[in-house]
Amino acid sequence: MPGVLLIAAVFVVFVNCCECVTPGQVQVNHWFDDQIYNISVNGAIWFKNAPLVFRKDWKEYSSARGELKGLLDTPHQGTDRLGDFETATWYLGVDDNVVALGYKVYDKKNYVILQQHFLNKTSGTSTGNKDLLISTFPAVMIDDTMAGELGYIAYSGTQYGSTGMEIGTWAPGKVNMNTGTAGGPTIFFDKKDNVVIIAPFSEFMSASTYLDTTQQPNRLSWGIMGGVMEIPEDFMAQFMVFYSPNGINKAFEEWGSLMKDFYGKDPSYRKADMTINYLGYYTDNGAYYYWRPEPHKTNEQTIYDIQSYALNSSIPYKYIQYDEWWYIRARGPTGLPTGTIKWSLRPKVFPSGMRKLYENTEWPVVAHNMYWSNQTTYAKQNGGNYTFLLDESGMALPFEEGFWNDLFKESKLWGLAVYEQDYMNVNTDAINATVSDVVSGKTWLMDMGNAARKNGLTIQYCMSYPRHAMTALEIPAVTQARVYMDNRPNTDHWTIGVSSLFAEAMGIAPFKDNFWSTEVQTGNGYNQTEPHTSIHAAISTLSTGPVGLGDKVGHSNPNLIMRSCNAEGLILKPSKPITAIDKQIQQMAFGGNIGPEGKIYTTYSNIDNHIFGIILAANISMDYTLRIQDTGINMTQAAMVMISDLYISDTLVTFNESQPLKITTSCTTKYFCLYYYSPVFTVGNDKVMIYGEVDKWTPMSNNRVTGIRVISDDLFLQLVGVPNEIVSFRFFRNMIPVAEIVKCSLGPTGSAEMSFNKKICTS
Ligand SMILES: *[C@@H]1O[C@H](CO)[C@@H](O)[C@H](O)[C@H]1NC(C)=O
Ligand SMILES: *[C@@H]1O[C@H](CO)[C@@H](O)[C@H](O)[C@H]1NC(C)=O
Ligand SMILES: *[C@@H]1O[C@H](CO)[C@@H](O)[C@H](O)[C@H]1NC(C)=O
Ligand SMILES: *[C@@H]1O[C@H](CO)[C@@H](O)[C@H](O)[C@H]1NC(C)=O
Ligand SMILES: *[C@@H]1O[C@H](CO)[C@@H](O)[C@H](O)[C@H]1NC(C)=O
Ligand SMILES: *[C@@H]1O[C@H](CO)[C@@H](O)[C@H](O)[C@H]1NC(C)=O
Ligand SMILES: *[C@@H]1O[C@H](CO)[C@@H](O)[C@H](O)[C@H]1NC(C)=O
Ligand SMILES: *[C@@H]1O[C@H](CO)[C@@H](O)[C@H](O)[C@H]1NC(C)=O
Ligand SMILES: *[C@@H]1O[C@H](CO)[C@@H](O)[C@H](O)[C@H]1NC(C)=O
Ligand SMILES: *[C@@H]1O[C@H](CO)[C@@H](O)[C@H](O)[C@H]1NC(C)=O
Repeated sequence: MPGVLLIAAVFVVFVNCCECVTPGQVQVNHWFDDQIYNISVNGAIWFKNAPLVFRKDWKEYSSARGELKGLLDTPHQGTDRLGDFETATWYLGVDDNVVALGYKVYDKKNYVILQQHFLNKTSGTSTGNKDLLISTFPAVMIDDTMAGELGYIAYSGTQYGSTGMEIGTWAPGKVNMNTGTAGGPTIFFDKKDNVVIIAPFSEFMSASTYLDTTQQPNRLSWGIMGGVMEIPEDFMAQFMVFYSPNGINKAFEEWGSLMKDFYGKDPSYRKADMTINYLGYYTDNGAYYYWRPEPHKTNEQTIYDIQSYALNSSIPYKYIQYDEWWYIRARGPTGLPTGTIKWSLRPKVFPSGMRKLYENTEWPVVAHNMYWSNQTTYAKQNGGNYTFLLDESGMALPFEEGFWNDLFKESKLWGLAVYEQDYMNVNTDAINATVSDVVSGKTWLMDMGNAARKNGLTIQYCMSYPRHAMTALEIPAVTQARVYMDNRPNTDHWTIGVSSLFAEAMGIAPFKDNFWSTEVQTGNGYNQTEPHTSIHAAISTLSTGPVGLGDKVGHSNPNLIMRSCNAEGLILKPSKPITAIDKQIQQMAFGGNIGPEGKIYTTYSNIDNHIFGIILAANISMDYTLRIQDTGINMTQAAMVMISDLYISDTLVTFNESQPLKITTSCTTKYFCLYYYSPVFTVGNDKVMIYGEVDKWTPMSNNRVTGIRVISDDLFLQLVGVPNEIVSFRFFRNMIPVAEIVKCSLGPTGSAEMSFNKKICTS
């Protein structure tokens, strides 16, 4: 019987309650002797704690049963990369093991870090179930505290926590979240603009969340995942409670900046990623040529046809994606693939070989990979050269950077630009090591990422859980990730407005997946049509992530495709991913009529500090009145918005504090509504608004308009593009559309200045 041991150290012991300093607006109050604490926002208690739990020697020790006796450390001050802090720590001892559970409160900061510090190596920690936790701190009760007052987003599941994501109301018996290894950050918000994000702050691959519905009241806890068998000495897991008074979108931005700064996520990798900047062609699930070349042709011939058709139709694809049909996989007893044997060409797919194909197309490649088979010939155990962990499940985990280095170096010869790691969930859940220790999962991703960086490649995550998504904060080469389930024609795979919030916060370009540009693509493998081509094209472009077509040869709509990009395929995107407005998320959580029934997504371009807003409304099932302050766009002047030229000719609608925007049920998925906002420029005696480039989803994009210059009697736009590209811009003068569109050539340099009044471009 392991007795309970008090740590034999002398600490100053406080009596009763310790009121801790208020960090901005989040506060933790605790009773040290009972290990009880509350988390408050603006002085109101949002969460009361559930018991602290800590496992060791196959037994659970809980503060609820008085089994975790310890001492409170003297609060002490310190300074770390986040600033000046004060700590409160319980040193809890079980036998000779000490775990220090404590929180750090930062001076004048709006967050608190709660940490679990395992001072000693601790064995026998596993619960036997990877989805439970071996330690819980913080842990909160789902009781009457704030019941019905808070909503939540619980990211969970694959595709950046989108497939299992739950949005709901915080109240006993109402909370539904998918936690465990699939779980992720939880965002709490009230009906005003107060937001609390609770998420891992470090050790993202080992940290987990668990919703315990077996206890009354139910509990939500954060800790280390339940399969971990042993914790090494001096291991620390940290969780952040982050507060913002500025609404959901802003809270993500603020939390994201903090995380990106802390982990040094370098935005230049995403910025420079060719496959994020240019139009691409995809062959993954949902695309026409997924697993099926043209009849009686090889995949190689099919690719030449794709390229030839694109050239003939002036569709400027700049790269191609090869999906899981191209490499050598093992087949398990049931015929299902059990993983990659060798990441090289399957016989007959490309008869000329990868390298020759690349030389012929000159298309850089995004190449898919699944998990590795335990029969992989790269593994030392199978006669190969590299260290792999082979798993009983039939899978394997590469376990040295040298493997990835060699693989990537060799693959660059056939054009590899982006390594696409798919089935990341399977890697985590099925391979024992990744869920039963605190190093394997992280090592796998860091090795892959370091090697990619050294070889000048970037990485796309697919079917990633939030734990992978957050680990990518530490991996600069990960620039893009799928944020929605696989595209299938005629499904709603454009609703990425909430998952994109998380991706952007982590510094990742959200990828919606491929889409078709025409409705009917005969003989497709899905026996489907795609009635919603436009919204897929619009959302792809406005997401700021990759834009990838998956059309049948001869079945593209070049006009639709060219709304996304310039003549050489450079995506004309806004300054940030389009996301759901706060009110839409509140509506999803609370119901009633706090927000719109349907999707209202917004984004903007910031050109020379002038904001050009974009509002997209779709699938609206009840008329809604959008207030200017709910758009998330900084519209500084009494605004007008211009209705898109897609279905309705341009009209101006007044949109200001006294005149909200009426969004009606005419905004459907097929005929969605787009509103564009422009600041008003004073040019001579005129008030000028810039609609921007006609027939583009982003009429004012930094990739087209690099500057705006106003002199006493004219306004100039600095434009860039392709040599001799023709561009067409539309303006409003004194609230009336200028009848004549300014159409001009960018000239031999591919850059020009457009004069609003003279209606010409000068190179
Ligand atoms: C936590 O909140 C409850 C309810 O208001 C209160 O009774 C208790 O004293 C608080 N505990 C601490 C440690 O502040
Ligand atoms: C546990 O860690 C503490 C702090 O490092 C140390 O003083 C103590 O000796 C360790 N106990 C054991 C059994 O290693
Ligand atoms: C990993 O394998 C060990 C040994 O077979 C087993 O005891 C443990 O439960 C497994 N862990 C998980 C999370 O499945
Ligand atoms: C593209 O045009 C060329 C020349 O007209 C023609 O030979 C070729 O078949 C076309 N390619 C496709 C895929 O339509
Ligand atoms: C292992 O590496 C050696 C030396 O680079 C090479 O000759 C050999 O082909 C490699 N083995 C396998 C199975 O790739
Ligand atoms: C490889 O996977 C199979 C199941 O597909 C399993 O039976 C075998 O034991 C595994 N091999 C190793 C070395 O783990
Ligand atoms: C569109 O709205 C209907 C309700 O009017 C809803 O059932 C459906 O799920 C919505 N689709 C999307 C993609 O939001
Ligand atoms: C394709 O869909 C149509 C209409 O939904 C259906 O009648 C037909 O049976 C389907 N064909 C196949 C091969 O599934
Ligand atoms: C909105 O834009 C104005 C003018 O550019 C700027 O001064 C202000 O700081 C912006 N507000 C926010 C919240 O970004
Ligand atoms: C809103 O616009 C209308 C119409 O232009 C105008 O009459 C009203 O004064 C404006 N309100 C505000 C608050 O700017």
